[in-house]
Amino acid sequence: MLLHLQAVLDADELARAAELLADAPWCDGRVTAGEQSAAVKRNQQLPQQHPLTRALQQIVLDGLNRHATFFSAALPKKVFPPLFNRYAGDHNRFGDHVDNAIRFVPGQHQQRVRTDLSATLFLADPASYDGGELVIAEGTGDRRIKLPAGDMLLYPGTSVHRVEPVTRGARLASFFWVESMVRSGEQRQLLFEMDRALIDLRSSGGESGPAVALTGSYHNLLRMWADT
Ligand code: NI
Repeated sequence: MLLHLQAVLDADELARAAELLADAPWCDGRVTAGEQSAAVKRNQQLPQQHPLTRALQQIVLDGLNRHATFFSAALPKKVFPPLFNRYAGDHNRFGDHVDNAIRFVPGQHQQRVRTDLSATLFLADPASYDGGELVIAEGTGDRRIKLPAGDMLLYPGTSVHRVEPVTRGARLASFFWVESMVRSGEQRQLLFEMDRALIDLRSSGGESGPAVALTGSYHNLLRMWADT
């Protein structure tokens, strides 16, 4: 499932992020790439342990923490500390690859994150750059995605994906991975659809008997499938 989450960051947070990113110490993006992806990766990233990166991470994590749809869709158990990248000039593309299945959190001894879901949070106004679409191979074809600043795409960690060359301006984004409490994508999707339907049911009919009963079923399924 590909899911577009709107307004993960608000206008103030985007402005603060833009200020921090303007002075950022960009380095070669291959530092976090596996062997296969390093061969096709040409972008820049922020050093993972830099104080400026920490400040940006907090902005992203605050946005995620209040985003109910993110929680419902991802059912997060662990969120990898968000990373930040820039595609511009000669460092303007990332060819087809699959993200590593397991990521190690820097500085945290033996802390591992299984990458059930990948996330890209767009930080630049799409009118400010050309190219830079996130292209994800899904089912019968490719999906090409370029979102407004502050919006985020959540997609399966298993997918082959790439970032098209940026031919004007700079594409800035945050990216990270989520290990979900519900490992199966099918089960996670079913829970998400059920949660959406419950919200609709409540908004049209209030806390009716059936709404309460179905909410109970949702939680009982989550209890059955979740690993905390
Ligand atoms: Ni990737």
